Amino acid sequence: MKADALKISDGVYWVGVLDWDLRDYHGYTLDGTTYNCYLVFGEKKTALIDNTYPGSSAQLWARIYDAFEQEGKEPKIDVIIQNHIEKDHSGCLTEFTKKFPELELYCSIKAVSGLKNHLPALADFKMNPVKTGETVELGGKTFTFLEAPMLHWPDSMFTFLEQDGILFSNDAFGQHICSSYRYDYEISEDILIQHAQKFYANLITPSSPLVLRKLTEVVELGLFEKINLIAPSHGQLWTDPLKIIAKYQEWGSGECKNKVTFLYDTMHYSTQSMAHAMIEGVISEGMEAKAYFLHTDDRSDVVTDVLDSKAIFVGSPTMMNNPYPSLGDLIYYFNALSFKKTGYQKKAVVFGSKGWGGGATKKLTSDLEGAGFDVVEQYDLTYIPTDEDMEKCYNIGKEIAKQLKDE
Ligand code: FEO
Repeated sequence: MKADALKISDGVYWVGVLDWDLRDYHGYTLDGTTYNCYLVFGEKKTALIDNTYPGSSAQLWARIYDAFEQEGKEPKIDVIIQNHIEKDHSGCLTEFTKKFPELELYCSIKAVSGLKNHLPALADFKMNPVKTGETVELGGKTFTFLEAPMLHWPDSMFTFLEQDGILFSNDAFGQHICSSYRYDYEISEDILIQHAQKFYANLITPSSPLVLRKLTEVVELGLFEKINLIAPSHGQLWTDPLKIIAKYQEWGSGECKNKVTFLYDTMHYSTQSMAHAMIEGVISEGMEAKAYFLHTDDRSDVVTDVLDSKAIFVGSPTMMNNPYPSLGDLIYYFNALSFKKTGYQKKAVVFGSKGWGGGATKKLTSDLEGAGFDVVEQYDLTYIPTDEDMEKCYNIGKEIAKQLKDE
């Protein structure tokens, strides 16, 4: 196939893969993504930063050949920087080691065993583990490495290209977007930040304390003012690095909007009616409300809004003394993401309709407390809400919104 490389700096090319068709990435719903890879030409050596999913290398090779053609050089890769072992960035590594058996491979210490585990064909391949501050020279192009464990796997690292001020950050600062455009300014800022927020919420939230520490380390290493471009492994490249760095500081420190997120399921529309009445109460106080109906809505979208919400309102009917199963899916996910690690304990309101014995609100309260939420209100009613019940729901929404606004 034929595909063009995009020159992003002198001797530096984007040679990534556009995956227009991916709709689900381990439970994260998306509308396509990119696997960004970069080729850097030094005076003596040429380096490839990361690669792509197994089976999607044709596009990568086509762009690599185009970059060599643009540079007027014969294709030869001397160095591979493997910033992360997950298969969307390492899946084609064996293809490169077969074609260029002399190449030097650099990765973090943790990545060595991970790569050998993922790619048994590389069991005997020489890997060069690097630590923070170590460098590799290509001739007029110098890489400095920065380990970034748990951003978002133990092996993750960043690579900084000194002469061009480009931070190759791998998954950090990424977004699952597939478009014709590569740069931040080429798509709507609102859409871009929404995608970056979804990426953070679903993949980075549990590492929030490490995000803040890593950003401090970047400042201490003197890299902060040297970064001209952040080139992540998914989505758009940040020509305005401060914009996404400020967002990571905000999300990592648990900063919230005057916003609440509703998530609820329903059996015969009673719990849904309660939710709608509470939403009216919340918005009457000028707070933003987002609503997710769990019959159909997806967990990866729910948590995107939970990230910058001060509280969640969780509604479920009682079914066989328990919450609806769809709530169980989210509770597991809340446990995994651990929003409390952002340093802010979100509040929760639990509500629902029951028939006779009840049980959903009690179980949800205990599960949400276990997942780190502060449950400040529980309300359940029998069968169908009366006018008085609906008024009470409205007032609960209003009262909680009033309290949250002042926080
Ligand atoms: Fe984009 Fe952790 O892989």
